[in-house]
Amino acid sequence: MQKIAIYPGSFDPITNGHLDIIRRSRLLLDKIIIAVNDNPSKTFLFTVKERTEMIKGAIPASPGIEVESFRGLLVRYAEKKGARFIIRGLRALSDFEYEFQMDLMNRKLSPGIETIFLMTSQKYSYLSSSIIKEIVQLKGCSEGLIPEIVREKLLEKFKNNF
Ligand SMILES: Nc1ncnc2c1ncn2[C@@H]1O[C@H](COP(=O)(O)OP(=O)(O)OP(=O)(O)O)[C@@H](O)[C@H]1O
Ligand SMILES: [Mg+2]
Repeated sequence: MQKIAIYPGSFDPITNGHLDIIRRSRLLLDKIIIAVNDNPSKTFLFTVKERTEMIKGAIPASPGIEVESFRGLLVRYAEKKGARFIIRGLRALSDFEYEFQMDLMNRKLSPGIETIFLMTSQKYSYLSSSIIKEIVQLKGCSEGLIPEIVREKLLEKFKNNF
């Protein structure tokens, strides 16, 4: 039976920290569906279409990797996709608190779905989408932290602020 996992997130925008989690989880599982959160009540810098396109542009086409957007309850989406696993990345203790609560709730909602946590790689441990947006907006160096396509899109977004 194919081991399918959902890697959900805002990806606003995708960073090399996310890409590292995707690459490492793909070594463990047959298929990773990167699921871009299309939550209408949240405010994002990029539209769901832009976020999805940037991921597709940053990842070479691979049979074991898909990119989609989703709305609503994550476990229902995972069930619909035949995924038995959810992938999450952990950076700091602050991630743990939230992820712990989400994991317990998701298991209550759908006991058959297991969340797999991957610890960040040291070089990305301080990296988040939020900090990247700040750095690029303030003209800081984002070398090695985001794919080139993301850097271009961010510069375009912020060009009126410069
Ligand atoms: N640098 C990183 N290393 C490991 N995991 C990460 C890293 N960045 C994000 N993740 C994980 O990827 C998943 C999706 O994250 P998300 O899209 O919310 O990114 P984020 O960087 O946390 O964004 P934001 O700054 O908006 O909170 C979460 O499980 C998150 O912990
Ligand atoms: Mg976050």
